Amino acid sequence: MTTLSVIKADVGSLPGHVKAPNKLINEVDRVLEEGKDENKITDYYIGRCGDDIDLIMTHDKGKNDSDVHELAWNSFEEATEKAKELGLYGAGQDLLSDAFSGNVRGLGPGSAEMEFDERESEPFLTFLCDKTSPSAFNLPLFKMFGDPSNTAGLVLDPSLHEGFKFTVQDFYEGKKADLACPEEMYDLLALIGISSKFAIEEVKKKDGEPAASVSTEKLNLIAGEYVGKDDPVAVVRCQSGYPAVGEALEAFSFPHLVPGWMRGSHNGPLMPVSEEEATPTRFDGPPRVVALGFQLNDGKLVGPRDLFDDPSFDETRKKAKKAADYMRRHGPFQPHLLGEDDLEYTTLPDVQDKLKDRFE
Ligand code: 13P
Ligand code: 13P
Ligand code: MG
Ligand code: MG
Ligand code: MG
Repeated sequence: MTTLSVIKADVGSLPGHVKAPNKLINEVDRVLEEGKDENKITDYYIGRCGDDIDLIMTHDKGKNDSDVHELAWNSFEEATEKAKELGLYGAGQDLLSDAFSGNVRGLGPGSAEMEFDERESEPFLTFLCDKTSPSAFNLPLFKMFGDPSNTAGLVLDPSLHEGFKFTVQDFYEGKKADLACPEEMYDLLALIGISSKFAIEEVKKKDGEPAASVSTEKLNLIAGEYVGKDDPVAVVRCQSGYPAVGEALEAFSFPHLVPGWMRGSHNGPLMPVSEEEATPTRFDGPPRVVALGFQLNDGKLVGPRDLFDDPSFDETRKKAKKAADYMRRHGPFQPHLLGEDDLEYTTLPDVQDKLKDRFE
């Protein structure tokens, strides 16, 4: 069995929240190279989206392995030291604990993992986001695995025709449920349409074989205060029983509105970009998604191909820029501004308190 572990964190950037510099990537690289030499992991690639560093690792230790998680944690700690030395903004931002304790879950970094027997040919994609939340994947994952208007294979390919199971997490209750699609599609949509409460955590084939996994950690629920956006990652297996690569990518051809952007408190379009263009600047955005495609070969990573680095996504980017203009014109008003419960920080309680005697 091969385990794919994508673990990510923002440990500092420049200027402000724009980009994790190469000097941090080098620190992470050094630690992961050591881990590879010590056979803790089989292979790795370090991706980046804006100020977030994404460790794409393969190994044979299963999900939630403490050695693998510790390796990731240590690499982020080393990079944090460098970020402090360079005086970068938000040095160690997503490391919410002073010490590692067995698993990065609950400590700040996000993780998306899956374990499976490699198929004869094993193409998979990683989607790396910045300036948004895990629920940003609700719409595209539904399109990929549930919507025949997006994924022709659901209709045409006998190996996809029975559909998929979606694991939906209620991130306030910390509980999850599996819903089968197409049988329970309307129930599924009733939940995942409420992206302020529900996020897709996993997608599986009907026999339980993993298809997709999302990092669903909500930083503000861990820290109890605003410490930046969660900036999620997702892993998606493709071809032969799964969506084709182009069907998975097609799910991002519409730049849908997602929560995040400036101060984690605004709705904005999710713009698919190359790694090179994952440098959110306008109003700290708009939110970005990068797609890196690999082939697995006996646990080794072959690739990546930077998949949104393609002119077929130019119109999506243009639409995203238009949507960004349109949303920005709302200034401090909803629905550009998030709902009260989702605001990452707000003066509202103070203002209400100050004015309480003037409301009659
Ligand atoms: P190829 O014939 O190039 O393998 O394409 C198959 C396919 O599924 C394209 O979506
Ligand atoms: P990050 O989560 O990417 O650090 O974003 C923080 C922010 O508030 C941007 O305006
Ligand atoms: Mg940041
Ligand atoms: Mg970020
Ligand atoms: Mg963040």
